[in-house]
Amino acid sequence: MKSVFSCQTCGAQAPKWLGRCPECSAWNSFVEETVKTVERPGKIADRQGAAAPLGGGQATRYCDVDAVVSTRFSTGIGEFDRVLGGGIVPGSLVLLGGEPGIGKSTLLLQAAAAFARDLGPVLYASGEESEHQVKMRGERLGVGDAPLFLLAETCIERILEEVDRVRPSLLIVDSIQTVFSLKMASAPGSVGQVRQAATDLLFTAKGRNLPTIVVGHVTKDGSLAGPKVLEHVVDTVLYFEGDRHHSHRVVRAVKNRFGAVSELGVFEMTGSGLKAVPNPSALFLAERPQNVPGSAVLCSLEGSRPILVEVQALVGSATFGNARRTASGLDQNRLALLLAVLDKRAGLNLVTDDVYVNVAGGMTVDEPAADLAIIAAVASSLRNRPVHANTVVFGEVGLAGEIRSTSQAVLRIREAAQLGFSRCVVPEGNADGGQSGDVPKGMALVGVRTIGEALEALMS
Ligand code: TYD
Ligand code: MG
Repeated sequence: MKSVFSCQTCGAQAPKWLGRCPECSAWNSFVEETVKTVERPGKIADRQGAAAPLGGGQATRYCDVDAVVSTRFSTGIGEFDRVLGGGIVPGSLVLLGGEPGIGKSTLLLQAAAAFARDLGPVLYASGEESEHQVKMRGERLGVGDAPLFLLAETCIERILEEVDRVRPSLLIVDSIQTVFSLKMASAPGSVGQVRQAATDLLFTAKGRNLPTIVVGHVTKDGSLAGPKVLEHVVDTVLYFEGDRHHSHRVVRAVKNRFGAVSELGVFEMTGSGLKAVPNPSALFLAERPQNVPGSAVLCSLEGSRPILVEVQALVGSATFGNARRTASGLDQNRLALLLAVLDKRAGLNLVTDDVYVNVAGGMTVDEPAADLAIIAAVASSLRNRPVHANTVVFGEVGLAGEIRSTSQAVLRIREAAQLGFSRCVVPEGNADGGQSGDVPKGMALVGVRTIGEALEALMS
């Protein structure tokens, strides 16, 4: 048996202990781990009594490979299915990451119950909570008599034994960081253990065509804890995000081998678990003040889903000479750039002003199409004039002050029409007649080429 030292932060390996990781510069992150020589996947699978996970070891002609019509199982929660790309694919391994207390276990228990009711037994292996604790939560969520099997166990070999016995249609492992393998000597949560457990789960998932969902912890900076290899191994990586101070939660796909990424599911945390929010735009606009300076409505696109959000700005004179710029829900550097463009191309003097910009409701927008809404909100606050009522705006702003067209304009415009908006200020390139056939009746499109034109169209 050989021993290696591996970095607990990034997974880098070295033959001897190092004080500082040469890859990620973390201090004191090396831990000794024993490794066994790698067996061929086929052998591992044989030993676990499952078929070889991927093919039979011989190359196949592309045209001889059967095109499998991928079936998907509904998890019973519409918004969750949406993020997964329309349901969970048999044999896929899904990783759900998120901060502690955000609702990962709640969501999975709800999904497990709904899945069990419709599609057969579900095994929920929890290394974090006892069966009683899970049951207590289940009572609140109304799990009822669904064929749901709970297992408080952290040894991966034991969990896989139970999989053999229960033969579930869905396996959930809450959390990969608490699971350990008897094959490794290191502590649960270490890079080696996490990698081993993930690989074991992968072979089981592929071998048995068993959809598997694992929970992953995130580190302080918000990325998934454990080795990067974890994200490479799994088919789908989902992040559970949300603001502790708001009740809504967002599940976002950042990697999906079976669907579109940056797809988004919106939930609301209530006293009886998570509730899907089928119309998030209405939620984010619910408390919007009407006819108040410094507020603009943006139609942003998250994956394939258009969402209307309110961008708010407050401009006030700076007290101590050095102006503050604060952005929440959007990129600080992008804000600085847009303020410079406003200053240079629209002649708005903001040098001596504090500028605060906020995306209401705790949402985060990071696409360039938000530029025009940010500019509109800032200019509106500076001039103390509200943006025209019933107007939605989107468009990218270039350094020359030009407005650049954005993707999926029609989709955005339709969403705006659905929520009762009657006017869209859009990039000239998106306002052309070519697509106007799809534009809903009663929606006025105003195409703009420069930020000067845009401000003209937005405020009188
Ligand atoms: P949990 O699912 O335990 O989070 P994670 O597994 O991501 O750590 O989330 C629990 C939080 O959600 C907890 O703070 C209480 C709250 N909650 C509700 O508001 N309503 C509910 O019905 C449940 C079950 C939890
Ligand atoms: Mg939990």
